[in-house]
Amino acid sequence: MQTAIFRHRASAALALMLAAFAIPVNAAPSKTLLQRCAACHGATGNTAAAALYPNLAGQSAAYIELQLANFRSGERPHAQMRAVAELLTGPEMCELAAFYAAQPVKPQRSPDAALEQQGRRLFEHGSAHGAPACASCHGPQGHGQAPFPRIASQPAGYTLEQLKVYRDAPKFNNPLASAMKEVALKLSDADMRAVSAYLATAP
Ligand code: HEC
Ligand code: HEC
Repeated sequence: MQTAIFRHRASAALALMLAAFAIPVNAAPSKTLLQRCAACHGATGNTAAAALYPNLAGQSAAYIELQLANFRSGERPHAQMRAVAELLTGPEMCELAAFYAAQPVKPQRSPDAALEQQGRRLFEHGSAHGAPACASCHGPQGHGQAPFPRIASQPAGYTLEQLKVYRDAPKFNNPLASAMKEVALKLSDADMRAVSAYLATAP
């Protein structure tokens, strides 16, 4: 029930935010534009270094655009990505988002099968402290469904770091981030490690 309310509010909020980005551009990004991202995110949006950078491949275009705008405004504080986002025009963000959304993503390998199993249970059924199943918002395979981002196949270190950011940040202006914060507050450190390990291997 609570999840349904979150979803409803989140969808309405996202529809409003996305209206600001409704620029009908479908041009492919130029090679030089893609080169600005490739050193970290790889040529096709599959991370160049899993310990450092997330995948963009297979992520929803709307979410990529929203995050680029968040980096630029400082709503999502990150010096490296802010510098990158500040140099992008609106149409360039659109092109890049559509390009990466269409690329196939490669799952990561994780050496700990027991931890993965524990993470999978959490993903499907929720946590002992009452966090709802990740699948209820992010989709049965974690592939994302508007307005929720894809979380499958991300490097474990990245997911773990993001979960801690949601949990520890004092407050978000964005209602979607606030919804995710409510979830993160109900995850233990062990839950976070397990679900991150599982998601990394999920295709
Ligand atoms: C110098 C390395 C670097 C470059 C170059 C770079 N990024 Fe990033 N990017 C990062 C890092 C690190 C993060 C993780 C940020 C965080 O922890 O919040 C990130 C995160 C992102 C995210 C958020 C992903 C998510 O799942 O929330 C998007 C979208 C993104 N980058 C797009 C781009 C695009 C598009 C370009 C090229 C125009 C680009 N980045 C260039 C390092 C880089
Ligand atoms: C009530 C719905 C809901 C549930 C349940 C939920 N999430 Fe989320 N999650 C969201 C929303 C909304 C966002 C986007 C927040 C934003 O824009 O910052 C998000 C974002 C994320 C991100 C950031 C993705 C990225 O690439 O930037 C991660 C990681 C994540 N969720 C992991 C999880 C995990 C793991 C679980 C299960 C333990 C979970 N979520 C359960 C709604 C939910």
